[in-house]
Amino acid sequence: IPEKKLIIAIDGHSSCGKSTVAKDLAKKIGYTYIDSGAMYRVVTLFAMRHNLISEDQVDENKLAHLISEVAISFQYNNEKQRHETYLNGELVEDEIRNMSVSNNVSVIAKIKFVRDKMVAFQRELSKEGGVIMDGRDIGTVVFPNAELKIFMTADVEIRAIRRFKELKEKGEDISLDEIRENVKKRDFIDENRDESPLKKAEDAIVLNNSHLTPAEQLDWIVDQMNKVG
Ligand code: DC
Repeated sequence: IPEKKLIIAIDGHSSCGKSTVAKDLAKKIGYTYIDSGAMYRVVTLFAMRHNLISEDQVDENKLAHLISEVAISFQYNNEKQRHETYLNGELVEDEIRNMSVSNNVSVIAKIKFVRDKMVAFQRELSKEGGVIMDGRDIGTVVFPNAELKIFMTADVEIRAIRRFKELKEKGEDISLDEIRENVKKRDFIDENRDESPLKKAEDAIVLNNSHLTPAEQLDWIVDQMNKVG
């Protein structure tokens, strides 16, 4: 592994395992993992709690006023061995992953002033380097000069099944059809929005993990790190 503390940008579709591989890698090489999607989820939760979203419409004026009240932080919970997200000091890790937030997050993530604020925060948190960040625009917008950019993808059906299993384990009552629709809808919105649409950076390398184990994915990324470092 290179001595220099790199910035590793991992972008790609929802539910393709970006965060799993990013977290595993961060742990293995002692880097900081930053979940940029969690930030958009927190803003979404905040907007929902203030009744600013209705039928895919956001009250952008009110959100623009209130967004200064949103303070996002992360902490690693040793006992539960997981990264946890906080909104103004309140643990919201589970709540930001539920279906209602997932269904609303795309309409929040396409608002420019929301993105500007999140991008500034993402850069602030990464000042020291040694960071692995996953999201949609990390290699294209947040860190166009990242030393290593990975574009991850996996087949829609495989992603839907993975997500289905995850939510079932958490006890959410939802069908595979609903999840497949949610995955497709999010892909569409993520790829077609005006602000920072999901697209592969020209210098990103593609990792299709449809048929790779987590260990194989890690080995692949470490190989890539050694090529650039
Ligand atoms: O990675 P995720 O599914 O937790 O992301 C939640 C949503 O946030 C997703 O619909 C896309 C959006 N997002 C984004 O627009 N830009 C990022 N850098 C990360 C996530």
